[in-house]
Amino acid sequence: MIAAEPPNLPSGDSPDLILVPATASERIASIRLNSVAWKGPLDVETYIQRENHLLQQRLTRDGLTCWVLVDRREAEDSRTILSSCESYRKSALLARDGRVEKVSTHGVGSVYCRPEFRGKGYAKRMLEELSVKLETWGMEKEERRRSVFTVLFSDIGKKFYAQFGWRPFVSSHMSLKATGTGSGGMGVTRDLFAEDVQKCLCSEVVLDKLRDQMLVASRESGSAKIAILPNFDHFVWHWAREEFYAENLMPEREPPVVKGAGDDRARVYCAWNRNFGETPEDNVLYILRWVYDEPTSPAEEEVVVTAMAAILRRAQQEAHEWNMSKVEFWNPTPLLQKAVALVDPRVELVHREKDSISCLRWTGEEQGLGKDVEWWLNEKYTWC
Ligand SMILES: CC(C)(COP(=O)(O)OP(=O)(O)OC[C@H]1O[C@@H](n2cnc3c(N)ncnc32)[C@H](O)[C@@H]1OP(=O)(O)O)[C@@H](O)C(=O)NCCC(=O)NCCS
Repeated sequence: MIAAEPPNLPSGDSPDLILVPATASERIASIRLNSVAWKGPLDVETYIQRENHLLQQRLTRDGLTCWVLVDRREAEDSRTILSSCESYRKSALLARDGRVEKVSTHGVGSVYCRPEFRGKGYAKRMLEELSVKLETWGMEKEERRRSVFTVLFSDIGKKFYAQFGWRPFVSSHMSLKATGTGSGGMGVTRDLFAEDVQKCLCSEVVLDKLRDQMLVASRESGSAKIAILPNFDHFVWHWAREEFYAENLMPEREPPVVKGAGDDRARVYCAWNRNFGETPEDNVLYILRWVYDEPTSPAEEEVVVTAMAAILRRAQQEAHEWNMSKVEFWNPTPLLQKAVALVDPRVELVHREKDSISCLRWTGEEQGLGKDVEWWLNEKYTWC
């Protein structure tokens, strides 16, 4: 399976190739293979433990499928893995014509082909088959029995996945350097622990508000709107990842407990996680999601922007405390960009061309939902 390099590899368009869910041992074999690309500072065995730990999280334990492209003539558990990836089922909202529905979607990740098998069309074949399979995979209990969209985050630019229907969406970010200096007179924020994030960013009230906003927007413009539901499970998954790294790489230190920051008066909140890379330069504190009410007057706007700036300062400090090089957040709104300008006017919006390109495959048109779709809350929490 993992060691085999058959003398005659099948061609990428061979009718003998099939895309199937991996058996338990094939899943481990595929993790071992892709460890070359993604284990980062962990050794292979610890990387496998990380993957098993993440699989047990609420977000993924029922909805994760590890897919392998194999030759149908080979026996289960001893098949040569030609290419592999994962899909994660998630809850989402779909709004169109004054109606909001809860739907399911899939995120695709860990697309991989071992170096010696590359360029033979295996990843392409896998994605061609996967794109179709995910339209109905795990959708038995759905009212529509089909997905209307799936997403992935490409690290290899905008073209490769587009050929299978995953179109690139806006993929921008801003970063601020980590800093050990104080709040700079920018107001006092409250540290958020896990339960605070649940209350301030994931409560029924917050999710209902999102639903209402999507409803109103769907009455105002014709195109469908989707959002991956920013439920607490997402945050817990990201934190399971950061805590796993922290425990393994910094065993002498208590795992990180500050999971975000907020300002109760301005009602602005964010949740973050720490991403540990191979070098301190690769360590990034990502803001996973922001929650605030759209201001209705210039005075309200000032309150919100000032609070965001103070929260960003707090994030910079937290990044510094954890030996991260920077704080980063995806697709900042104009208000958040104003707040960044208060913290550091030199910072610019970056449009990514290669890494973490948010891509969405829309199949709603065939279901009468129109040609276009707007992706709401295209923030880092959606990444898997
Ligand atoms: C990307 C990857 C899965 C492609 O696997 P593969 O089986 O060699 O791909 P295929 O033979 O089916 O397709 C080759 C195509 O992929 C494109 N491709 C491969 N690597 C690429 C890269 N880093 N950037 C852009 N395109 C790339 C090639 O340009 C080629 O396109 P062409 O047919 O138009 O010439 C493989 O190179 C890999 O595992 N890379 C490391 C992990 C990774 O980056 N995964 C993607 C995460 S989003």
